[in-house]
Amino acid sequence: MTERPRGFALMAEDVRAAKDRDPAAPSSFVIWVSYQGVHAVWYHRIAHRWWLRGHRSAARLLSQFARRWTGIEIHPGAQLGRRVFIDHGMGVVIGETAVVGDDVLMFNNINLGGTSMSHGKRHPTVGDRVVIGAGARILGPVYVGSDSRIGANAVVVKDVPNGATAVGIPAKVRENPKPTEVHTAASCVDEGDSHVHEHEQAVHEPAMYYI
Ligand SMILES: CC(C)(COP(=O)(O)OP(=O)(O)OC[C@H]1O[C@@H](n2cnc3c(N)ncnc32)[C@H](O)[C@@H]1OP(=O)(O)O)[C@@H](O)C(=O)NCCC(=O)NCCS
Repeated sequence: MTERPRGFALMAEDVRAAKDRDPAAPSSFVIWVSYQGVHAVWYHRIAHRWWLRGHRSAARLLSQFARRWTGIEIHPGAQLGRRVFIDHGMGVVIGETAVVGDDVLMFNNINLGGTSMSHGKRHPTVGDRVVIGAGARILGPVYVGSDSRIGANAVVVKDVPNGATAVGIPAKVRENPKPTEVHTAASCVDEGDSHVHEHEQAVHEPAMYYI
């Protein structure tokens, strides 16, 4: 098992993840200094550490400061995996008992929210390599399986199996998703069009890299 990098190595890993997944990123430097989705994850790591050490007010204050600065609210109790990338980011809210796996890609206006006021686990658990489309709401202590995709504006209130694509309100798993997506409309959002880019070669990797 490889050891988890720390400090700058961990930050560099985040920047690389952002560079890999954002075709609009001009350079790693721009990501380091200006990508608020990346900065929000960095603030969260500090706040989460404070939270675990029992400095709960300080942790909450830091997360609220980060929210003002980035437009992204991540409760300090939430658990985020490695290389989580929040693209665009504005309006993302991640609740206290949410768990997010490694290599998850999220866009703006996403809620990983609760549906009850009770204490205890009340927010979603998201597996590894999940893509969560812009505006999606994932509500309650549901499980979103690894390698699944949640469509833009979906409202997920039930578990989503591994590898599934769920869309709509309430979100339903699509029966016959494409086996491999290459340069679909979703992939072209950052390039400002919705056409297949024929000059680009087909690459068979998880769909997250194309969105
Ligand atoms: C869910 C998603 C991953 C599916 O991508 P895909 O497999 O290429 O899907 P397609 O575009 O081929 O659409 C397949 C079907 O699902 C429907 N569909 C796709 N996305 C949908 C969505 N978000 N909500 C509802 N229906 C959706 C399509 O209308 C189509 O329906 P049909 O079979 O009845 O014609 C993608 O549509 C999506 O929502 N990605 C998120 C992208 C995003 O948030 N970008 C923001 C960047 S800022």
